[in-house]
Formats: sequence, structure tokens, C-alpha cells
Amino acid sequence: MPFFKNLRNSFSLSGIRHIPGPRGLEFVKLMFHFKRDSLGALEETEKKFGTIASYGWPINTIIIYDTKLIKQVLGDKRKIYVKGAQTDEMKVVMGNGLVTNNDRKSWLRSRVIVSKELGPAAITGFSRIIYELTKKRINSWKENGSSNLDFSLEMRNLTFAIAGKTLLGSDLTEEDARIVDEAVLYTSKMAHDHMFELFPLPYWVPTKKNREFHRHNNNLSSIVKRLLNQEKAHSDEAKAKSILQRLVYAKNPDTGEGLSDRELKDEVITLLIAGYETTSNSLAWIFGLLANHIDIQDELREELRNAEEITSINFKNSHPKLYRAIVEGIRLYTTIPMSSRKNLEDDQFGEYKVPKGTSIVIPVWNIHRSEKHWDDALRFNPKRFEGVEVNRLDHYLPFSKGERRCVGENFSLIEVAIIVSEVLKSYKLELEGTSLPRAVSHVSLKPENGMPIKLTRIEA
Ligand code: HEM
Repeated sequence: MPFFKNLRNSFSLSGIRHIPGPRGLEFVKLMFHFKRDSLGALEETEKKFGTIASYGWPINTIIIYDTKLIKQVLGDKRKIYVKGAQTDEMKVVMGNGLVTNNDRKSWLRSRVIVSKELGPAAITGFSRIIYELTKKRINSWKENGSSNLDFSLEMRNLTFAIAGKTLLGSDLTEEDARIVDEAVLYTSKMAHDHMFELFPLPYWVPTKKNREFHRHNNNLSSIVKRLLNQEKAHSDEAKAKSILQRLVYAKNPDTGEGLSDRELKDEVITLLIAGYETTSNSLAWIFGLLANHIDIQDELREELRNAEEITSINFKNSHPKLYRAIVEGIRLYTTIPMSSRKNLEDDQFGEYKVPKGTSIVIPVWNIHRSEKHWDDALRFNPKRFEGVEVNRLDHYLPFSKGERRCVGENFSLIEVAIIVSEVLKSYKLELEGTSLPRAVSHVSLKPENGMPIKLTRIEA
């Protein structure tokens, strides 16, 4: 029962008041600011308190803006950190899948299995599906003579079609797809809203919103369970193509163990929720940035002329300009603007003692936009990554760091690269309006009112 658990934890912790942070009326004002505009509130907190700020009862959270402390949490001391209260909110939808699992042993067992199904061999196979569905979508724009599109919606539809086929498989009907899409949107938005409530109403209280939440959550579970049961009934490993189908047969190479029915369901729902909205929002922002920088689009088109197809993460070398535009896009508009952790043992942040059980927020949004780390930080400038190995940078965290880093990183980078390259080969993009839309955080970072882009055909 997260409500009572939060309340209990809150009362049992009073040990972070020695760390500077808002108190009294300022605390209440900032909490309302978080609820209204979490990115703005992260910025205001940093401006007022610097590299570390504590929010006391009832949320008992410390925000760390210092990359040394972030490295301590995600790297050196990772074994004493688990996912935090903010991530716990997602458990009601994702169960004990990889994102939310805090039991190290079972997390590691599942991580090994899922990583393999998202590894290089699988990605090369899926790249064909990504090309096929992307070309189909672009052809539909051509047939409809589309010249103005909301790329937020278009990318959502396209990445959902890709997730439907690669993750859930071809047995997904159109009706199922619609239900799954609605359920993912509703449940993840509601779990996110819970994160910023001081005293969130438990999900069992029969309010209209909660009933709607349960309806969507049940729909999602029953479709995934049905697809899993279908696969088990066929029991034909040689024909298993989708990630869902392959997970049914997958075994941990060290122990020979597979996933239980419950684990299978949780992992599939987790991959679905963690995978396609993040990729779709990254694409919307990258297209928005390119539409605002015609010169960079032209440079990419030049690189794409006669370039080979993208089938593996080696596109970093074969398409360096495209790769740099993508990593710069997800720096500036980082898809997951904050992550959360909780310490299982007392820790020390510089001069401050951090008692066991404190929620720690890592504000990736601020780190990626800070002049401390980036020259002219708010400028879209892919060239800043020339000769830079991004994985070495402590201040570049779009996929997080350490052992809990994104398991779908390469899959999503390849998906993004294929979609960007195919669209740029067919169309010149211009932003409608003079600037990019405002960014809002709903777990992942969305353009507030879509991403309207004007398209001009450039091929014969
Ligand atoms: C541009 C696209 C994506 C971005 C920016 C992204 C970002 C992230 C981040 C920041 C985390 C760590 C969260 C934390 O530390 O609390 C994460 C974890 C995760 N991501 Fe992604 N992700 C993307 C795409 C995907 C895709 C396509 C999949 C699956 C097909 C996926 C599956 C996961 C899973 C399962 C985890 C949890 C890993 C673990 O804890 O072991 N992600 N992602």
C-alpha cells in the first residue's frame, strides 16, 4: 500500500533537515510548483540552493545537482542504492519488471535474459521491421499529400507500430493496439501525477480517475497475458520472432532458468511502457530541432547520400553526423528529465550525512543544460560531440549510468537513426512558428502542445 508506506517512511525520517532546502511556506510553494511544472521547479530549486537541496516531511527527498554525487549514487556506491519512491509509483503498472524491481537477485536474473533479447543480433533483425514500417508511414504522408504534421503524434503512432510488431508480435489486432496505446498513456500519466502529490490517494479508493486507471491497467494486463498464453500454446521456438515470444523460451545462460508467468507479464509491460513513449518523444524533439536548423539537416542529407543501411550500433562510425545530431538532441531535450533512487544504508554527501531510506532525485534536465558542463548549453550544436566518447562523460546521462542504465539504449538509438534518416531523405522540415514548443515532463519529456512541422518533398 504505497500511501501508508510513504506515510510510515515519512514519519520515521527526520534526518535531512541539516541539508539546506525550502522550509515552511517556501516548501509548500515549491511543492505546488513541482506539481504544475516540475522542470521549472527543478531549476528554481537549483538557483536557490545550489548543488544539493532537501525537501523534508512528508516527501523526504534530496535533489543532487553535483555530478560527483551522482556518480557516487549510480556508480561507486550503486550497491546500496535501489530505485526510489518516485519510481515505486510505477510498480502499480509495471509490477516487478526491470525498471521497478528492487530485489537485486531477481533483477539481475531478468536483466541478463532481457539484455540478450535486445542485443545486437536481435536488433539487426528488427532493423528490417523498423525500415519497413517507417517507409509505410512516409508513403502514407505522400499519398495524403501531407504538408503539415504534428510530429509528436506521428512519431507516437510510428513508434507504437514498431513496438507492437517487434515487442508484442504480429498477433496484435488493431483493436488490441488501440486499447494498449490508450492504457499505456493513461496509466503512466496517472502514476506520474502521483509522484508529485504530497498525500496521493491510494489506488483502491474508488474515485472516477482510479476506476478508469484500473480499467486501463486490467486491459493492458489481459492483452499481454493472452499473447503470452497464445505463444505457450503454439510452443514453437523456431517461429518465435517478437521479444514477447522469445522471452517465453529465454533462459539465463548461467542458471538455465527462464522467467515465471508473472515475470514474463511484468517484463513485457515494462518494455512496452519504458520503450516506445521515450523513443517517440526523443524523435519529436530531434525533428523539432532539425526543423529549426535547416543547415544541419542539409549536412545530414549530404552524409546520407549513398550511405549504407543502418542495422547496428556501428552507425556511430558510418553516420557520425547523424549520431552526433541524435546525442545532442537528447542532451538538450533529455527524455527522462529526472531519475530517483533510495539508499539502503546511511551515506555521506560531502559534509552531509544522508540517512538510510532517503529519496534521492537526479535532475538530468539541469545537468544537461548547465553552463558548468556545456559551452553555450542551450544551443543545439551537434559539433560539440566531435571526437567525444559520450559514455565517458559524467554529465551526459540520457540513458542513466551504471548497472541500471537503459537496457534498450542501442535498440532505441538505431530506431531513432533509421526514422530520422528515412524522413530526411524524403522531406525538408521547417518548424511552424518561430520557436520550439514548451517542454513538459510526464515521466518522459513531451512538447506541450505537439510538434507542428511543415514538410516539403525533396525527391523526384
Ligand atoms: C530514447 C529512448 C530511451 C531513453 C531516453 C531511455 C532512458 C532510460 C533511462 C534514463 C533509464 C534509467 C532510469 C533510471 O535510472 O531510473 C532507462 C531504463 C530502462 N529502459 Fe530505457 N530509454 C529509452 C528507450 C528504451 C527502449 C526502446 C526500451 C526497451 C525496448 C527501454 C527499456 C528500459 C528498461 C527495461 C529500463 C530499466 C533497466 C533496469 O533497471 O535494469 N528503454 N531508460
